[in-house]
Amino acid sequence: MGKQARAIVDLSLKDLVKDLNKAYADEWLAFYLYWYMAQTVSGKAYEDMNELLMKIAKEELEHAGEVADMIVKLGGMPVANPMELEKNANAPYMMPPKNTADINRMIRIVTEAEATAIEVYNKIAKKTLGKDNVTYQLVTHILSEEVNHEEMFENLLER
Ligand SMILES: [Fe+2]
Ligand SMILES: [Fe+2]
Repeated sequence: MGKQARAIVDLSLKDLVKDLNKAYADEWLAFYLYWYMAQTVSGKAYEDMNELLMKIAKEELEHAGEVADMIVKLGGMPVANPMELEKNANAPYMMPPKNTADINRMIRIVTEAEATAIEVYNKIAKKTLGKDNVTYQLVTHILSEEVNHEEMFENLLER
């Protein structure tokens, strides 16, 4: 992002980069958790869960990339050390269930992670509305995908 592009951001860039770095860490933890559960899930719903978790894991990884790109544009740097991801995240890493066939527990964990993501992006959207239109556009785009994720998993629970 050039000088003028940064100058029109009517917010503390440092604060904004900090918020985005927290979201960035959340995305990596979500990606890892979903991907891990996709690899290890067992039982009769194995195929469906594997497919759904893989699909959503890929979207979380895309979000991490989009947020990283925004951080760099704003003049910051995304968290470099993977050991620091959990420390920077908005919520602690949720361990997958020991019982790899416990689909209900998996769905509950994922719905909770999605609820956190919705809260986080909604907060950044409110903060950037009219103050940083570029970040606003990115976070509302991601927010709409997190809303879809929550819905997909909630639907599974209701079945
Ligand atoms: Fe995400
Ligand atoms: Fe998500």
